[in-house]
Parts: sequence; C-alpha cells; structure tokens
Amino acid sequence: MGVTQMEVTPMPTPPDVVRSAYAQLVVTDLPRARWFWVDMLGFHVQYEDERALYLRGTDELTHHSLVLRVGEAPALDHIAYRVRTPEDVDRAEEYFTALGCPVRRVPAGTGTRGVGDAVRVVDPLGFPVEFFHAIDRAERLIQRYDLRRGAEVARMDHFNIVVPDIPAAYEHYRALGFGCSETIEGDEHELYAAWMFRKQTVHDVAFTSGAGPRMHHVGVFAPEAHQVLRTADIFGSLRAEHHIERGPGRHGVSNAFYLYLRDPDGHRVEIYTSDYYTGDPDHETYRWNVHDDRRRDFWGNAVIESWYKEATPVLDLDGRPQPVVSGALDESAVQVGADGLGIIPAQAAEH
Ligand SMILES: [Fe+2]
Repeated sequence: MGVTQMEVTPMPTPPDVVRSAYAQLVVTDLPRARWFWVDMLGFHVQYEDERALYLRGTDELTHHSLVLRVGEAPALDHIAYRVRTPEDVDRAEEYFTALGCPVRRVPAGTGTRGVGDAVRVVDPLGFPVEFFHAIDRAERLIQRYDLRRGAEVARMDHFNIVVPDIPAAYEHYRALGFGCSETIEGDEHELYAAWMFRKQTVHDVAFTSGAGPRMHHVGVFAPEAHQVLRTADIFGSLRAEHHIERGPGRHGVSNAFYLYLRDPDGHRVEIYTSDYYTGDPDHETYRWNVHDDRRRDFWGNAVIESWYKEATPVLDLDGRPQPVVSGALDESAVQVGADGLGIIPAQAAEH
C-alpha cells in the first residue's frame, strides 16, 4: 500500500559460451600473410582461395581458428565464440538485442565458410563478436608430426582486447558467465587488467587498458616451451627478427611461456604455452599488484612501449572502423621495473 514497485524487465538468459573459437583478421597482402602464419608459424591451411585463408592448429577438429581475408586496411573483422547448442545462438540474439547492441543474424552459408547459423553483434565494449554453434568438422592432425613446422601451432587459445574501461569489460564478461582467473590491480584495487575464461584454462579473453576498442593480440597455443624458443630462432635465422616484438619470456600472470610477434600487417600474435587448469567450481581469482614487476614478465624484463600502445583497429558489422576512446588507466605509466621505467625495490637493490 502506497509502495510503488518499479517494473524491472529481467535480462534474457545469456548464451552458454564454450570457448574462444576463431578470429577473422583483415590483411592487405595474402601471400605475405601466408608466409608469416603458415610458413613461419606452422598453421595448417584448411581452405584457401584468392580472397582468404582458413587456418587451424593441429589439435583442432573444427574447420578453422583463424581466417585471414584480404581488405584495404589491417583490422579485426570479428572474434567468434562457440556456444553449446543451436538454441544458444538464439539466446545470443535475444541477449544482445536486450542490451541495445547492433545485432545481425548470419544464416548458414552466408557468413564465414565452414560456420553454420550465427549471430554477429557489436558488443557493449564496441567489439564485433560472432556467436555460433555449428562448424564443419576437420581431419584429426594431432599425431601428424610430419606436418609440423615453425611454432607447431596446436590451437587458438585466447583473444586479448584493448578497452578504455576495464571494469566495464569485466562486468560484461561476468554477466556472460565467464570466470576470472587473474587480475592486475592498483593499491586501491582499481582494475588495470583481467583474464577471464569459459574453457578450463587461464583465459578465453583478457583486457589490456588503453584506447579502445582495439584488438591487442590473438594468443595461439604451442605444445611446449621449446617451440616458443625455436620460433624466435627461425625468425632470427631468416633475418626476419623485426617481426619479434617481445620475449621469449615467462609471464607472471598465467605462468605461460610466451613470444609476441607482429605479422606483415602489424597484427600481434602471442605464441603461448604452459598455463594451468581453472575448472574447479571454487577456483579463486589470483590478484597481482600493478607495482609487482613480475606480473607481465616473471623475470622482470621490460615491456616495450609499442606493446602497450599499438593495437589493431576493429570494424563494425558493415566493415567500417569503430571509433576509439582513450583509456582511463594507463598501466604503462605505472612506475615499476617491468616497464623499464624506474623504481627498483630497495631489497632488490641491495643484492
Ligand atoms: Fe595473451
């Protein structure tokens, strides 16, 4: 009596995301892209024509995990998540429509080759994201050691995206049912970065603070650390060392062994291995302080400025570049040794 109840429309159930599945990048020169991703890194070519390459790692049993299509300027066309059932594709449509996002249905045969019925959205963070369930199966190559070369890429592991508002990205992916394995936080627990997962590893998606929406890198999994080292050696041997941007090294966050490379269009790829299991229901978030210089490189090696500042533009559903907004927090400006900028802890300086 006398109490006014606000009518709250409940949000539709979000889609049940299985994993980060594939990225579609725009490249300007397909033969050069083929040299980098296939000849040098060892992706398997599942299909190619004059306009696109469809690539996968040797552990993957689906049509592709990376599509490189020719276009005018380097960009991210979209990232894609696989969902558990065909109904989850409908749920994605309903969920993002309720959020007020641009949403487009992509019937089987009209979108990316090999992928069935899908929904593409521009998510609240400004990224072009596809949700699909059906995808063509592919021949098992897990024990085709004779086909391996370069980094011996096994599978797509994660997307790393640059966003101006890390808490907003965290909340969006929490609402989509993602767990959080690790964070980088300031002294007041302000969030500089977060690693979030659906599959039972450290992440399917991570956020780097900065001007966004932009794509920071795709992370591809190599079976063992020696493949990461060998990749760097091969680039050196062929006088292609300028493609190496950072590493090899050991991350603090994720514990992974890593190497960052830039492809001929500037797209960044991380060769990544040796992270850990996160699938227990009470798995706790591990929180790094932004002043801990082991967080980005466990051995305290400097993170070069290009790694923080440069990233790939992203497109909207009509292929136009998304406008970019500056970031609220700048991790690269934090005065810590790992960024090569300064403060050496007193106890370390004594030794
Ligand atoms: Fe990564």
